[in-house]
Amino acid sequence: MGNIKIIETGDGSSSLYNEALNETYHSSHGALTESRYVFIKSGFEAIMEGKTEVNILEVGMGTGLNAILMVEQALKYPEVKINYVTLEPFPLSEELIDGLNYNQLLDEHLTPYFEALHQAAWDEEVEILPNFKLHKQKTTLEHFTPTLSFDVIFFDAFAPNKQPEVWIVDNLKKTFELTASNGLFVTYCAKGQLRRDLVSVGYEVERYPGPPGKREMLRGWKK
Ligand SMILES: C[S@@+](CC[C@H](N)C(=O)[O-])C[C@H]1O[C@@H](n2cnc3c(N)ncnc32)[C@H](O)[C@@H]1O
Repeated sequence: MGNIKIIETGDGSSSLYNEALNETYHSSHGALTESRYVFIKSGFEAIMEGKTEVNILEVGMGTGLNAILMVEQALKYPEVKINYVTLEPFPLSEELIDGLNYNQLLDEHLTPYFEALHQAAWDEEVEILPNFKLHKQKTTLEHFTPTLSFDVIFFDAFAPNKQPEVWIVDNLKKTFELTASNGLFVTYCAKGQLRRDLVSVGYEVERYPGPPGKREMLRGWKK
């Protein structure tokens, strides 16, 4: 994936900048703020009510920020079992992970879990907490062979103009098939073409207020 550097975003949290793609891993307005708002609040919290088990698919594990924020949720809701499957064809080096400042910004009881997420073996299910199972898969969405359907899909690929091949209709069809009934596809992206493509594969799509610095984002429901 070329040369990758650590950067600081608008809320003081770290992100990464990929020079070859000229693209950051998170919003420059705030990585932590964006992840909490787009994926946790508008994704997980929107579907978790009344559930005792939630299956989550993340497309693009990257720094593990969404994953550690979901561990935080698992600690908050010990009665809810979370199965977290995350795809990443280009795992980051230990040096980059160690240079991120999430452990300084998040509650200190999360630090050992951030390490556990990154040290967990690839391509096998690992128990991080009694109610949080992690299955990191070193693969692309295109090559992923699912064994579950998912209550929420965190679609956190690089932007469509940087990695158009990840946002193709065939991939969106695949995510639709993998979405459980009444499940949710959530992304930071608000592009009109994506909205039309999500509708074309079967989602009921809503424009949703975006995180700071972005007017809108998209959510797709499988009704
Ligand atoms: C925007 S970043 C992810 C940010 C991440 N969720 C985080 O919190 O750091 C996009 C990620 O998608 C990964 N990726 C690239 N191509 C992919 C593909 N075809 N399928 C799944 N992930 C892909 C990249 O390597 C990168 O780590």
